[in-house]
Amino acid sequence: MASLLIIGCGSIGERHLRCFQKTGRCTVTACDTNPALLAAMRERYDAAGFATLDEALAASGYDAAVICTPAHLHLPMAKRLLGHGLHVFIEKPLAIDEALVSEVRAAIAAANRFVAVAYVYHLMPWIQQARAFLQTGQIGRVLQATSVSGQHFPTFRPAYREIYYTRRETGGGVIQDALTHLANAVEWLLGPCTRVYCDAAHQALEGVTIEDTVNVTARHGAVMVSYAMTQFQAPNENTLHIHGEHGSVKIEGHLQRWGLLRHGEKDWTWHVTPPLERDDLFIAQANAFLDGMEGRPNPLCTFEEAVQTLRFNLAALRSSDTGTAIDIHCA
Ligand SMILES: NC(=O)c1ccc[n+]([C@@H]2O[C@H](COP(=O)([O-])OP(=O)(O)OC[C@H]3O[C@@H](n4cnc5c(N)ncnc54)[C@H](O)[C@@H]3O)[C@@H](O)[C@H]2O)c1
Repeated sequence: MASLLIIGCGSIGERHLRCFQKTGRCTVTACDTNPALLAAMRERYDAAGFATLDEALAASGYDAAVICTPAHLHLPMAKRLLGHGLHVFIEKPLAIDEALVSEVRAAIAAANRFVAVAYVYHLMPWIQQARAFLQTGQIGRVLQATSVSGQHFPTFRPAYREIYYTRRETGGGVIQDALTHLANAVEWLLGPCTRVYCDAAHQALEGVTIEDTVNVTARHGAVMVSYAMTQFQAPNENTLHIHGEHGSVKIEGHLQRWGLLRHGEKDWTWHVTPPLERDDLFIAQANAFLDGMEGRPNPLCTFEEAVQTLRFNLAALRSSDTGTAIDIHCA
């Protein structure tokens, strides 16, 4: 059985702790600077806990760590954990800037350990199936895509005023927090983003000043892509249209389905995933990470794919700040 350290046991860290435990393939230890959370992890999951990473690393050896702290801590922690010879799973977004990217890239090469980033859309069956279909080339070259999505953030994350979300420096705002999932998924489906023009603003959320609404006009190579997202809207919906030479694909995340409409057809042909519990995707993600540790194939977002999506985030923020389009020079 593998031994995993979960660093940061807040909203997503607790979910990872529970879902890794549910795989039955590993033991989990908690690490969080908040003593009340550590006590809760012990009580709910019988997980040992440490208040600092120093204490956790001094106390025991682990095979891997899951970094679930705010984004500015992701790469400093990843570098340290790789230095200890651990496999590392990093929550999204990868970072808030590119400062440590090359050092961590070198640390991954030196440690020869498995590293992946927790962009959970890679585990969604409707995304995986649409991607496999697009790769068959049946709708020809993809020419244009439109992503429209959002939710009422205060309903889903009532604590948004008290967490990392309030500041860009800690990974906050709609671009780094939520749009990044869509950008990463579109990059996985259609290829890397190469140019971004972004308009973003704080429109509605009370108690914060960070942007909660965004419109992006992008290029992913030859594909023209537009993204619109709000964090104040009533519907919790997520729709992606992808139009090719011979037909269109539509992915409706909130309905867990994807569809195909070829030129000349009147109606969509839908492929629907049976209802999932919210933990199911995260258990699948935990299993995929454990597979990756064992050297087996997995659909997880790679370090380099997450670096590319980090560049999207940073280009979108810069474009919004400057009112200009930003080119992304892909590696
Ligand atoms: N993939 C997803 O669906 C998803 C969902 C939510 C959050 N996230 C991402 O996960 C990360 C964490 O988000 P969250 O919502 O769980 O935040 P959170 O504020 O609920 O939890 C973060 C936890 O990290 C702890 N922490 C901070 N510094 C620490 C340190 N030095 N050592 C140990 N613990 C420390 C805090 O005490 C807190 O409990 C963010 O990057 C966020 O974008 C991803």
